[in-house]
Amino acid sequence: APSYNIASIPGDGIGPEVVSAAIQVVEKLAKTLGTFQIEFTHIPWGTAYYKETGRYISEDALDTLRKFDAGIFGAVGAPDVPDHISLWGLLLAIRGPLQLYANVRPVRTFPGTKCPLNTATEGIDWMLVRENSEGEYAGQGGRSHIGQQWEAATEVAIFTRVGIERIMRFAFQTAQSRPRKLLTVVTKSNSMRNGMVLWDEIAASVAKDFPDVTWDKMLVDAMTVRMVAKPQSIDTIVGTNLHMDILSDLAAALAGSIGVAPSSNLDPTRKNPSLFEPVHGSAFDITGKGIANPVATFWSAAEMLKWIGEKDAAERLMACVENVCAAGFLTPDLGGTSNTQGVVDAVCAEIEKIKV
Ligand code: NAD
Ligand code: IPM
Ligand code: MN
Repeated sequence: APSYNIASIPGDGIGPEVVSAAIQVVEKLAKTLGTFQIEFTHIPWGTAYYKETGRYISEDALDTLRKFDAGIFGAVGAPDVPDHISLWGLLLAIRGPLQLYANVRPVRTFPGTKCPLNTATEGIDWMLVRENSEGEYAGQGGRSHIGQQWEAATEVAIFTRVGIERIMRFAFQTAQSRPRKLLTVVTKSNSMRNGMVLWDEIAASVAKDFPDVTWDKMLVDAMTVRMVAKPQSIDTIVGTNLHMDILSDLAAALAGSIGVAPSSNLDPTRKNPSLFEPVHGSAFDITGKGIANPVATFWSAAEMLKWIGEKDAAERLMACVENVCAAGFLTPDLGGTSNTQGVVDAVCAEIEKIKV
């Protein structure tokens, strides 16, 4: 049986709670199916590590990660450290440098989840593709005359032809692989006249290689309206790092809760291991209460299994998770009364029922 080595980086806040939950169900699944082996290696990066060492990740972090088939990540961010220090210290120190340029965020309503608004969002099934290596996240910018009245700060968005083209191809391929074959390219090329115009141009040229994909473009502000008002008109969406960061939280909320939204940071060239994580953060308000929704991390783990070659196991895991949600094992963010471990136990019991 194939065997996989996975880096586990639980991080801060509810990160350790949801990563532990996911490891429990994946280990149970591997044991029950017996078709593959999987080993998780704990990596202690995060705020406690930072307070001890002055760094969020080790100096050889990228090489450490390269030894694994994939990674699972929880969240980073603590109330007593500025968020830009923690995020640039850990998560953003991995995504860009490992060139995990495609951030894939599927969104769908499933049993037990429902849109909090009274719009017809039943049956949302979207695939959000986020450029994950450039734009406002390129790390360029600075401050001058700090503290003076004439202080100035820049946040430079960098868009490259190579960077846009690779994510655009990835998005068209993703749209092509889905039944509806619809792609919406999101930009802001009315007010942003350089990078966003380059996005539009590259979309039009890449589209020529995908004649079977129906595509349109939309300004990001209008896209928020469409997501709420005409959700059924949407299938796959591609956009910049910042735009899709925002749209993916909106999408998660429309589909029921940020607590179920998964995310894959992929290196489609497979040179580097990909990193799988829930969309949500460390959620200080519920840390330690044992009520974090583990479904986003279950789903992220399922996406990881699919990526490393265990598609059947991934599908079985999601079927078990859906059954458990349908049976009413829901955490408070979904209006339920279960706690994290209750959902874990229910999923494990469901896995036990699998006939192999
Ligand atoms: P958040 O996602 O941590 O929390 C937003 C709200 O959603 C909170 O009310 C929280 O309780 C709820 N929530 C989030 N995940 C949940 C889950 N699994 N189950 C139930 N409820 C859940 O966003 P925030 O409050 O803006 O950020 C908190 C910290 O996390 C900050 O330091 C931020 O920078 C960081 N953050 C990290 C990541 C990451 O590591 N990937 C992502 C987003 C935010
Ligand atoms: C996400 C998060 C991160 C992002 C933050 C925490 C750096 O919000 O993964 O969506 O902006 O990419
Ligand atoms: Mn986000």
